[in-house]
Amino acid sequence: MTKICCIGAGYVGGPTMAMIAKKCPDVQVTVVDINEKRIAAWQSDELPIYEPGLDEVVKETLGRNLFFSSDVDQGIRDADIIFVSVNTPTKTFGEGAGYASDLQYWELCARRIKEVSTSDKIIVEKSTLPVRTAEAMERVLHAGDNPVHFEVLSNPEFLAEGTAMADLEHPDRVLIGGHNTATGQQALQTLVEIYATWIPRERVLTANLWSAELSKLTANAFLAQRVSSINAISALCEATEADVGEVARAIGTDSRIGPKFLHASIGFGGSCFKKDILNLVYLCESYGLQEPADYWRQVVIMNEYQEARFVKTMLHNMFNTIAGKRIAIFGFAFKADTGDTRESPAINVCRALAAEHAQIVVSDPQAMENAKLDLPELADQIEFEADPYRAAEGAHAVAILTDWTLYKGLDYQRIYDSMSQPAFLFDGRNMLDHQALFEIGFEVYSIGKGLKTHLK
Ligand code: NAD
Ligand code: UGA
Repeated sequence: MTKICCIGAGYVGGPTMAMIAKKCPDVQVTVVDINEKRIAAWQSDELPIYEPGLDEVVKETLGRNLFFSSDVDQGIRDADIIFVSVNTPTKTFGEGAGYASDLQYWELCARRIKEVSTSDKIIVEKSTLPVRTAEAMERVLHAGDNPVHFEVLSNPEFLAEGTAMADLEHPDRVLIGGHNTATGQQALQTLVEIYATWIPRERVLTANLWSAELSKLTANAFLAQRVSSINAISALCEATEADVGEVARAIGTDSRIGPKFLHASIGFGGSCFKKDILNLVYLCESYGLQEPADYWRQVVIMNEYQEARFVKTMLHNMFNTIAGKRIAIFGFAFKADTGDTRESPAINVCRALAAEHAQIVVSDPQAMENAKLDLPELADQIEFEADPYRAAEGAHAVAILTDWTLYKGLDYQRIYDSMSQPAFLFDGRNMLDHQALFEIGFEVYSIGKGLKTHLK
């Protein structure tokens, strides 16, 4: 029986391993983590992350061929294949601070693997890493006269949160990079066979290690760039009375452009887009490629502009003062169908509103616990209220910051009636029926469409 160990039981390690366990009952999968609380949560009825469809897969496989453990060494020792799926955040200190990836967790894993392994293993980079990281890892793994052989593969993960289980079950592609040596190709084929259990072979792409590593950063950069591109156009739409939704539809029907990732918004969030682009910027700079670095940096600058522009629009439309005004934030997660708030635009929006002395009420169906941890410094200006109707009571404005479907179905007449007048609604996700809201009486602002106002 093939034994897989995954180091890192997070948003990627948990769901990806649960899917492998479901699809490959003959493979034993153990996910290990140093965070014992997280491991305990994976073994409980309340999983540590919210992801539609995940509970069912974990229920089906847990204890059959899926195991969670905080005994990292044992997991490593027993495995034939080790996925490393630890966090690789942006460095906050020293050289490259604010741009480069912090590889300390990854390297600690490599050192641990070397320390405790007594048999040959395939090491799979699942974390998103700078191009050529595998080279450094191989040197760590093979340092000294270690008789054990490690073959490093790159298998970046492309799942998106909120749709992780569908993405894992029916991926557009799986990418596996390996060395062009006999042992490299053999290891690569071993991993191809595992994915080919449920994924059509033509969707399992193979590449050299460096291409695989770089493809992951590139994919995220291209996706984020599309969001920044349409957001840049949204500002121009507001200045010219063009409608960004109509522009997106018009360009998205060009098959060369395609319709996805053209939804103008308050800006992209999530743990990866910003981190990965800044890493790409750093990599370009470290190879002396200043213009490519500046090109990609602009995607992040545009995103910051979009967040700041949203708050300015709120302030200017609310008569240039929001001091003491109650503002209801609908949605704190960085996107719908997740409780994840990492790099959520809501964090910066709330900070900027608080700087204007607003009183903020945050509501979110899944992200309240994380939201509370994100803004401890605003304790006296922020309340948390799970029920959106109660959050909106007495508010001067509602701001939609996450595209939860439930916000489409609310009774906005009831919300309007309970608010301070004039009641403002700022739709940072362009997801509501703005004409209907306007007819109820709201002052309605939406990204790339501007303000519909009764106040002339
Ligand atoms: P996460 O923070 O949710 O999980 C990482 C886990 O690794 C944590 O539970 C942490 O305790 C554990 N860990 C850290 N060091 C460890 C060590 N030495 N030994 C054992 N466990 C250790 O992170 P995530 O969101 O799952 O992301 C993991 C990687 O996958 C990152 O490189 C990220 O860029 C990439 N990625 C994330 C997503 C996503 O949607 N979140 C998608 C694709 C790729
Ligand atoms: C993204 C990528 O889509 C995944 O392929 C990748 O694996 C992952 O990053 C990663 O490496 O972590 P994720 O961040 O989970 O996935 O979610 P997305 O659906 O990409 O959304 C990212 C952000 O962009 C969200 O804040 C979302 O609201 C925003 N967005 C997305 C828009 O504002 N407009 C769009 O049209 C699309």
